[in-house]
Amino acid sequence: MKQRVTAIAVGVACFALGATIQRLYDTRRPQQAQIPRPTPQPAAPAAQPPAAAAADFSKIDFSKEPLWAYGRTEPPKPGETAAPQAPPTRNLRPGADPAEQTEMRHVEESRTEYSLVDIRDGSSVIDWFPEDHPPMPDIIEHGPAAAGEQKRGCGSCHLPNGKGRPENASPAGLPAAYILRQLNDFRNGLRHSADPRKANTNTMILLAKAMTDEEMRQAAEYFSAVKWTPRFRVVETNLVPTTRIAGELYIATSNKRTEPIAGRIIEVPEDEEQTEALRNPRVGFVAYVPVGSIRKGKDLVTLGGMKVVNGQIVQGKTTACGACHGTDLMGVAPDVPPIAGRSPSYLARQIFDTQQGARNGSNSSVQLMKMVVDKLTPEDIVAITAYLASRPVPAVPADQLVARR
Ligand code: HEC
Ligand code: HEC
Repeated sequence: MKQRVTAIAVGVACFALGATIQRLYDTRRPQQAQIPRPTPQPAAPAAQPPAAAAADFSKIDFSKEPLWAYGRTEPPKPGETAAPQAPPTRNLRPGADPAEQTEMRHVEESRTEYSLVDIRDGSSVIDWFPEDHPPMPDIIEHGPAAAGEQKRGCGSCHLPNGKGRPENASPAGLPAAYILRQLNDFRNGLRHSADPRKANTNTMILLAKAMTDEEMRQAAEYFSAVKWTPRFRVVETNLVPTTRIAGELYIATSNKRTEPIAGRIIEVPEDEEQTEALRNPRVGFVAYVPVGSIRKGKDLVTLGGMKVVNGQIVQGKTTACGACHGTDLMGVAPDVPPIAGRSPSYLARQIFDTQQGARNGSNSSVQLMKMVVDKLTPEDIVAITAYLASRPVPAVPADQLVARR
């Protein structure tokens, strides 16, 4: 009997909390719902230096940084920044065998072939599986013309199918209006990484600044049309393989799990050669998460950490995420993005970036997200993102499944 009363109390409290947030959210929600069609505009001026160079990092509390999510082992030193990324090139790498770099490569199930030189050329994105996504518009394949020699196709980092990688982002299947707002937030200096060393986010900002409104609209429509299906598996474990870090990505250096996970999440390619050298978009990642983190994350995500102690409801440190992100955590278009079955490294960076004010978007709902994540500790962020990553993504009907894996 007591248990039943408790269950009902929890239910009522959840409902009340959800309703309050929903009301707050509805009143703040901007009326704009559709992707606005831009009026024709002159081409954007040549790309400016990354906005993050001018961003203020003085208020970031690096003692709380989930370093694993940024592909780092130490917090940044005072004043440390990122050198700009080198522009894409087709030059042969000195010191490496030229024949090896120009030899044609294949990946399983693909009918096409590319050399390493083709694969590395980010200004002309290779496409192993054109059948996995709609035809790529020019912006996805070649990037914004106004970026000059810095031009890179969106698909070079996010892959042609938008599934991305742990060290960047996965724009596939996000609401188009949400994507458009993020691109504008990058462009307008409202979104940067909390970690000043994150060179690829600076490149993202540079590209957003170089894009025309029309290119932004095309990119948003393209990525939102690709269905999201997770590309990694989550493994709860006390031990992880030894790793090295290459370009903010952890790579396993052994097949055996011998190193304590030590409260981190370690996301590694299933197959380094396929992911790194060949950029095969069908081969995914493994996310090792600490034992017990998924259950702890479930409490925070579904109840906001609320507890019933001696029949009294004790508020948790956060708010049930489903109140805004939907009970299946698949987002609510046009404003709220899906967060189920996405890379834990990416999700953790967004939570920290939002908490620290580095991601401070134009949507007033961002301020609500900020309140929600304000009290989360690095351990909470591990638990929450382990749980979110482990969430199933509702099955996509076969005829709509553009990306197959
Ligand atoms: C150099 C690699 C790179 C390229 C090229 C690139 N991006 Fe990004 N993108 C990133 C990174 C890194 C992030 C943010 C990750 C972070 O800070 O945690 C990002 C984030 C995003 C997001 C936010 C996703 C979300 O869930 O909020 C969108 C949308 C996006 N990129 C679209 C694009 C488009 C469109 C292009 C082509 C013009 C592009 N990107 C080109 C690296 C890149
Ligand atoms: C009050 C509503 C609200 C609640 C509650 C909420 N969120 Fe959000 N969340 C948002 C909105 C709106 C955005 C998009 C922000 C923007 O436009 O930049 C967002 C964005 C995010 C993102 C970034 C996604 C991406 O693709 O970049 C993550 C991660 C996230 N939320 C996690 C959470 C977690 C975890 C919880 C629960 C602990 C939570 N949110 C609770 C409204 C909410």
